[in-house]
Amino acid sequence: MNMKKTIKDYDLNGKKVIIRCDFNIPMSNGIILDDTRIRASIKTIRYAINNGASVILLSHLGRVKTDEDKKCNSLYPVSLALSNILKKEVLFSPETRGKELSRMVSELQSGDILLVENTRFEDIDGNKESKCDKRLSKYWASLGDIYINDAYGACHRNHASVTGIPLYIPSGIGFLVEREIKKINGILELNTHPFITILGGKKIEDKTKLIESLVKISDKLIIGGAMSFTFLKVLGYNTGKCIISEDNLSFCKKILDNYKEKIILPVDFVCEDAIKEIDEFDDNDIGYDIGPKTIRLFDGELKDAKRVILNGPMGMFEDSRYANGTRKVFNILGKYKIKTVIGGGDSASAVNNLGFNDLFYHVSTGGGATMKYLEDRKLVGIEVIEDAEK
Ligand code: ADP
Ligand code: 3PG
Ligand code: MG
Repeated sequence: MNMKKTIKDYDLNGKKVIIRCDFNIPMSNGIILDDTRIRASIKTIRYAINNGASVILLSHLGRVKTDEDKKCNSLYPVSLALSNILKKEVLFSPETRGKELSRMVSELQSGDILLVENTRFEDIDGNKESKCDKRLSKYWASLGDIYINDAYGACHRNHASVTGIPLYIPSGIGFLVEREIKKINGILELNTHPFITILGGKKIEDKTKLIESLVKISDKLIIGGAMSFTFLKVLGYNTGKCIISEDNLSFCKKILDNYKEKIILPVDFVCEDAIKEIDEFDDNDIGYDIGPKTIRLFDGELKDAKRVILNGPMGMFEDSRYANGTRKVFNILGKYKIKTVIGGGDSASAVNNLGFNDLFYHVSTGGGATMKYLEDRKLVGIEVIEDAEK
């Protein structure tokens, strides 16, 4: 990826700066359950207002297909949270386009901040945001002088507010996007070994390209979580009623055939009533977490590791009975002081919920975006930004 212009490359004084953030945060009945992504956006917003800009914030929240979806996906609570953190008023536009929004924008003074309602409200009528509608992109671009993409978690989306606007006005990346890429490149480019990838979670179908690209560059690939059952089934084990991706059996076989010596799979699991070794499984068994022998096996593999990329929890950690495997793996990474990048929406929430926030070299704010970047080191939302001058 070429070097990109950043917010620091622009004179912001007196300018209207559109900052695309990723405020797609977990929310229930208007209550924000985790504000990590809001806090992660503050540095760029503060920099812009401290340098004399007025700021127009854009973000999506959730998936909006019907009027019903609008009710629980308003960004209004985010404007209150931002105002709390920044200790200043944050204006809110309930419109995503129209006269009222244009009026609010035209009245912005240097230092003002305006958050616009969920960009995906534009999806109700013809998926204009998600299909990167040209007129919508041009309209949003017309509201500002400069576009800054700081929505790292959405950088893999070819959407109007991500890849559309920067086609029409000068553009750059914000501090969060810059930091995420620097950290992930940092671990990929280090030449320290052993370099181990740990994969878990359950979505093999979403992660085949990721598995292929990471297994090539890693010295070992440790697989836990529900994902391991499809690999174990290929090896001939009875996987009972565990989640299996039938469509990916041949993919898993190919990976096992080509990289046999690199792949480490669990040997035991926590089932509902007992801990069972994989060769003891019967037709009704379901494994919800990795077992103690597996944790010892992974510990041995990780003892000398210098770098780790982890994506996906080791078990169904949301249920405290099945959080031990994920917690123990985090402990092992801390105990051996391994330089670790964690990517994946559920993995980052496991880090937060299990109390490991400050332990790692980098916990990404991106789920799909980080997976996509690890696959081929490209994100459409960054590619479209202007190159830095050499
Ligand atoms: P990420 O969002 O970090 O990329 P995934 O979305 O692939 O991770 O998977 C996370 C989900 O996988 C979690 O909801 C977790 O409960 C589930 N999971 C992991 N292991 C198991 C298991 N053994 N059985 C059922 N669910 C599991
Ligand atoms: C995320 O949460 O991964 C990003 O905000 C992107 O959200 P999306 O998967 O709904 O596009
Ligand atoms: Mg997930």
